Amino acid sequence: MTTFVGVDHVGVGVSDADEAIEFYGRHVGFDRMLFDYTGELPGLETVAGGTPRARVAMLESSGATPIGPGRIKLVQLLDDGGPPAAPAGQAWGEVGVCEICLHARNVQEVHDALVAGGCASLMEPTSADVPPTGVTLDIAYVEDPWGTKLELIEWTGLWRSLPGPARAEGVNHVAFGVTDMARTRAFYEPLGFGQPLFESVEFFGPMAPWYRAPWYDPGDLPTQHMTMPLSAQGAAIEPCVLDPPAHDCRGEWGHLGPMDFGIRVGNLDAAVASLGAGGVTFHGTPQTIDVGSGEWRYVYVAEPDGNYVQLVEARY
Ligand SMILES: [Fe+2]
Repeated sequence: MTTFVGVDHVGVGVSDADEAIEFYGRHVGFDRMLFDYTGELPGLETVAGGTPRARVAMLESSGATPIGPGRIKLVQLLDDGGPPAAPAGQAWGEVGVCEICLHARNVQEVHDALVAGGCASLMEPTSADVPPTGVTLDIAYVEDPWGTKLELIEWTGLWRSLPGPARAEGVNHVAFGVTDMARTRAFYEPLGFGQPLFESVEFFGPMAPWYRAPWYDPGDLPTQHMTMPLSAQGAAIEPCVLDPPAHDCRGEWGHLGPMDFGIRVGNLDAAVASLGAGGVTFHGTPQTIDVGSGEWRYVYVAEPDGNYVQLVEARY
């Protein structure tokens, strides 16, 4: 038996780890370095087509709360040629990781501060509620200087923020595209993601400017079926199905921008055994990396749509 503890981190490919560490620490609140590892990453042979050499920085927000507990993993590939480019024409919801959502205290002020710090505004702050329960939220989107979509949400209907000045508080959820919602829900349920916070089938209008020609016909946008299965602890997942299906935006592992995520488990070997008994398959065997402060244990799981997802046991 083991425990599944929600989304542990979202992995972001970067071209200069020092710059990204500085930016995410100063402007996005990820001010604690859990480890800064440079070396080989075994266990990726069937994911990345080899054993990448990379610098990996795992960052935590000192402002993280129970509703924004997730971390950021910056990955700078060091192999010849460096990191591949971000997938071309990615709007939102194509297969692949498409967004990092941060819980924020005061969305308007955090949005404005990020724009002042070098982000582009992608969606002006607005208030909304989500079906079927009418949970209220404040929402905005920015794009970091390297093109990663950062969603800012304050779940006003769920959580009264701790008092204090505006701040981003850590990862609330990761969004990614899939092709079959029922299959995805069934896959992630044994990984700890159960009751969804919301489910919607309407196109979210403020995202329309992101869907550009020649990838899309702006006059005939796809529908978006999105839902947010919650884990009792840890950050959530937000899978989305576009109809009609869009182009594949997984890209090569390690590409620039958001590209993978990790689900935290209490005991990696026990998790692999119990999931394996249920028919889940893995890319290779569990790996143990000495990151100086301790050990990073992970294994990549065979996700139904080929999204890059690792189980992670954090001993650092
Ligand atoms: Fe989201």
